Order: sequence, then structure tokens, then C-alpha cells
Amino acid sequence: MNNDILKPVFRPRRLRNNTLIRELVKETKIQTSDLIYPMFITENSDKKEEIPSMPNIYRFPINQALEEIQNAKELGIRGVLLFGIPSKKDSIASSAYDDEGVVQKAVREIKKNIRDMLVITDVCCCEYTDHGHCGIVKNNNVSNDDTLDILSKIALSHAKAGADLIAPSDMMDGRVRAIRHVLDNEGFENLPIMAYSAKFSSSFYSPFRDAAQSTPQFGDRKGYQLDYSNSREAIYEAILDMEEGADIIMIKPAMVYMDIIAKIKAISNIPIATYNVSGEYSMVKAAVKNNWINEKSVVLEILTGLKRAGADIIITYHALDAAYFINMEF
Ligand code: PBG
Repeated sequence: MNNDILKPVFRPRRLRNNTLIRELVKETKIQTSDLIYPMFITENSDKKEEIPSMPNIYRFPINQALEEIQNAKELGIRGVLLFGIPSKKDSIASSAYDDEGVVQKAVREIKKNIRDMLVITDVCCCEYTDHGHCGIVKNNNVSNDDTLDILSKIALSHAKAGADLIAPSDMMDGRVRAIRHVLDNEGFENLPIMAYSAKFSSSFYSPFRDAAQSTPQFGDRKGYQLDYSNSREAIYEAILDMEEGADIIMIKPAMVYMDIIAKIKAISNIPIATYNVSGEYSMVKAAVKNNWINEKSVVLEILTGLKRAGADIIITYHALDAAYFINMEF
């Protein structure tokens, strides 16, 4: 070695020398309690059905959902997010607020049979409407204010069934305030709302739409979901939802929206969730299947990255696999 070479003054590599020192200085650690497992509950089958574009993710009849939730619990998962696939759809999503609807029944069964599991329900119309839009359609347009009434009914029926957290994903204006008002009037003032505040119109949802049979039959969702080109507008949505009484703010999708996660985290003092959506999951699974990437290391890198960006809560189809990997690591 040339003795004249200028030696470094600063040596960040000292703290990367071995596993123990790296563990000591690790800034972000993902835990199983950070993860929420989204699940599809179907009324149309008595056997679980794998979703072709989402390997290892199923539509579950209620009894098999209970077994899956028990498995999730044993791995350390503490929350599930339920989506219903009803046997009947109509133009006004009436099966979404039926007390005997698929989600309402599922919530009651989970609450009866499984302790210590947070049951979160998705509040939206698209799985329950024959046209596949997230609200009531009038003159080929989703009518904001007519939809608020339906959303409030859905939220109330979930509350009555025993849901622990209500998650509206429709992107109508004023829905957090409308839902909060109805819940408060009906004695559910302690039931929190996790608002999908910054939900972008995204091509990463397509496997979900196969799974939930919720593809819009005409047009698209650009008239209510955010344009992915906009970050200031996403912050505006988050601020409105906080002012309307949201308890948790969600950013969705996750992986190509980390800048939004970080920006909203910086301006808020309530917990931030992000939804690592179906298309993000399917891409990883497809690459894993081809042996192009290592599932354990990639999944942990993605989830840790989302937490590092500012997400306190991560909703992910990887939840069970990730829990298994996390339990192996530590
Ligand atoms: C709609 C809803 C969607 C997702 C969750 N709730 C899809 C959409 O807006 O079409 C997507 C979730 C995913 O892709 O995993 N209420």
C-alpha cells in the first residue's frame, strides 16, 4: 500500500463489522405486531379457493377463515382486514349493510371464536355493486353525497357486528365525517376509523379485483381515487381526514408511494398505515416462483423499507410468510 495515501477520517464501516454491532445500531425493526393480514371472505363457496394471480391467498368461507386466523395468531399476527364477496350484488350495494351479510357474519364468528385478534373491516361498495363502482352511480357518475349515506350504513352494520376498527376505502369526500357522526350517534364513539386517505388510482390493484370480483363494469376509478402524479393533493386528503376525525391515516399502494408515506408522516401526529397491495404482492410471488429473488430477504427488505419510510402499520398479503420469517430471524 502506498503510505502517502490519504486515510479516511470517518469510518462508518466500523458499525457494520459484524452481526452483533449491526443489530445494535439497527434503526428499524419489523415486528409481527406491525402487520395486518387482509382476507377475502366468500359466501359463494364452502371450500377455500386460491386466487390465481395471488399465490397462497384464498377466498375463504367463514369456517375456513377461522382456521386461517388461528394460524395467523399463532405466528404473532394481531390484526386482520376483511373484504366480503357476497352472493348477491345490486346497484346500491345493499348486501354490504345487511346485518346477515358476509362480513357481518364473519365478524361475529371471529369475535365468538378467537380472542385477542383485531378485526378490521373494509367499508366500500365495489364488491357489492353490480356495476363494480365504489358508490352509487347516477348519470354515469359516482354520486358523492348519495354514497355517504350507504357508507354510513355499512360502517354502522360492521360496528354492530363487533368490528374493532372501520376502514373506509371508497375515496368519497366527507365520508370520515359522515361515518364518525353516525357511529357517535349510535353509541360507537370509541370505535376508531382508519381512513384510506391517500388512495391512488393504481394499476397495482388488478389482482385484488380478480379476487374480489370488483372490476368496474364501465369507466375507471379516476373520478374518485387520487392521480398518482400528485403528492400535494395526497397531503391535502390526509389533512382533511384528520380534521374529519380519522384515527389512523392510510397510504395505498405502498412501494411506489414511499415519498407520500414520509411526507404525511412528517405533517401528522397520528399513526400511519400503508397497504402493500395485491399487485405488489403478485410481482414478488412471480419472481420468487421463477427463483429470480429470495422470498425471505426480499419480503423483509420491502416491509422494513415501508416502516423506515414512516409506516407504523403495514397491511400486507405477505403477513403470514413475513411473520414466519421474522420469527426465524430473532
Ligand atoms: C376497493 C378496494 C380496492 C383495494 C382495497 N379496497 C381496489 C380498488 O380500488 O379497486 C385494493 C387492494 C389490493 O389491491 O390489494 N374498495
